[in-house]
Amino acid sequence: MPLDIVIGAQWGDEGKGRVVDLLAKESDFVARYNGGDNAGHTVTVGNKIYKLHVITSGILHPHTRGVIGNGMVLNPQTLIEEMENLKDAGMTISPERLWISDAAQLITPAHRLLDSAQDAALGNSRIGTTGRGIGPAYVDKASRRGLRAGEMLDEEAFRDRVARHFENANQMLVDLYHQPAMDTQTLVNEFLGSMARLRPYIHRIGPMIQAAIDGGKTILGEGAQGTLLDVEQGTYPYVTSSCTTSTGIFSGLGIGVQPVRRVIGVTKAFQTRVGAGPFPTELYGDMANFLRGSGSNPWDEYGTTTGRPRRVGWLDLVLLGYAHEINRFTELFITKLDILSGLQEIPVCVAYKYNGMKMRSLDFSGDARLMAECQPIYQNLPGWQEPLGACRRWQDLPAAARKYVEFIEQTIGLPVKNISVGSERSALIVRD
Ligand code: GDP
Ligand code: IMO
Ligand code: MG
Repeated sequence: MPLDIVIGAQWGDEGKGRVVDLLAKESDFVARYNGGDNAGHTVTVGNKIYKLHVITSGILHPHTRGVIGNGMVLNPQTLIEEMENLKDAGMTISPERLWISDAAQLITPAHRLLDSAQDAALGNSRIGTTGRGIGPAYVDKASRRGLRAGEMLDEEAFRDRVARHFENANQMLVDLYHQPAMDTQTLVNEFLGSMARLRPYIHRIGPMIQAAIDGGKTILGEGAQGTLLDVEQGTYPYVTSSCTTSTGIFSGLGIGVQPVRRVIGVTKAFQTRVGAGPFPTELYGDMANFLRGSGSNPWDEYGTTTGRPRRVGWLDLVLLGYAHEINRFTELFITKLDILSGLQEIPVCVAYKYNGMKMRSLDFSGDARLMAECQPIYQNLPGWQEPLGACRRWQDLPAAARKYVEFIEQTIGLPVKNISVGSERSALIVRD
């Protein structure tokens, strides 16, 4: 009855998609439980690149079942597009293989327009959201006026509710944000058409997942975004609107608290962030370009969902320790170690200077204003020159690369069980 969870230990884009793809080989169910199509998870298989925004990355293995949990906000239109793309790529996407929670909240085109208008209205304080309507959809959920997937089973009542949602959103867009009005009639019809196609996929999934766990099946939870984007524990207010940490799996799938076998914290060998907010180890200029890449490789640091260049910096072990504290990881998975080849020295942040004091761990819950005042204190580790792309065993890595990994293990107090050295599925070192 194992339950495993993959969690981003940074600000998202840690490489969770490739980790889930690896673990899905041995999982029966792979479930997303938070966020929506703000996620962009990349899996590279041979020369094929899959970019998944709504459906779990575990779906690429034909034996798995994919779950869209009640903790998610679901855009039916992007989901259908993704289903079609996967079918075109030869995959079976059927109601047997894909389950949508009847309690998942729906994202409409109105949420998207509101998201962009609201973020733009913040001016210099804007979050830099993905514009996917995530915030407004979770606002509607918390305000108890959200639309849930299961409501579509009563078609007439659903049509009324959807129409009213668009009317209300229109009023906000026009009156509050001075945006052009939507053509609500067309949008309502398109939205209802998409939902009608999803009808056979909608279930009350909590009891189904619990029965699978009790029946000895292996469930893998795919956390979207990253710990530092968590709405409660992240660098508030520069966060997303959902629970991105390990605890969210229970409420986000509608199951009770129960033992978890593995909580895998995924971290890049350096740090990245998309959107605004504090980033103590951020780099600019040549060194930033070195870590980010020019954009000519598919793994260079440009957003999967928005194409925006990602901000980059040195690995921050204060924040990784904080992520461990919140998630109780059982192990770490380090991605993109290959990118660090070619440096003489690699600084890693081991403490902050804050208010004249040295802090080795965060003494506040991510608060962005306090974090903006933290200065990183670095320890320089020796670099290595060799490319790592062909390494497949721990002993294949240069001694300095092994020391880099061991330094992370010792500082955080967790084993690094896997290291990836390229975007392709097989570019992986599994440690005993
Ligand atoms: P996710 O959102 O956590 O799934 O991560 P993304 O897919 O948004 O971003 C991670 C990027 O790094 C993708 O382009 C991956 O293909 C790529 N990637 C993952 N692991 C490695 C690695 O070990 N080396 C390299 N070079 N690229 C990697
Ligand atoms: P994956 O799953 C990186 C960031 C946005 C913005 C903030 C709020 O691929 O790791 P939102 O649209 O969620 O309201 O935006 O969160 N963000 C992500 N950054 N990876 C993601 O997902 C992200 N999802 C949201 O850039 O700063
Ligand atoms: Mg991503």
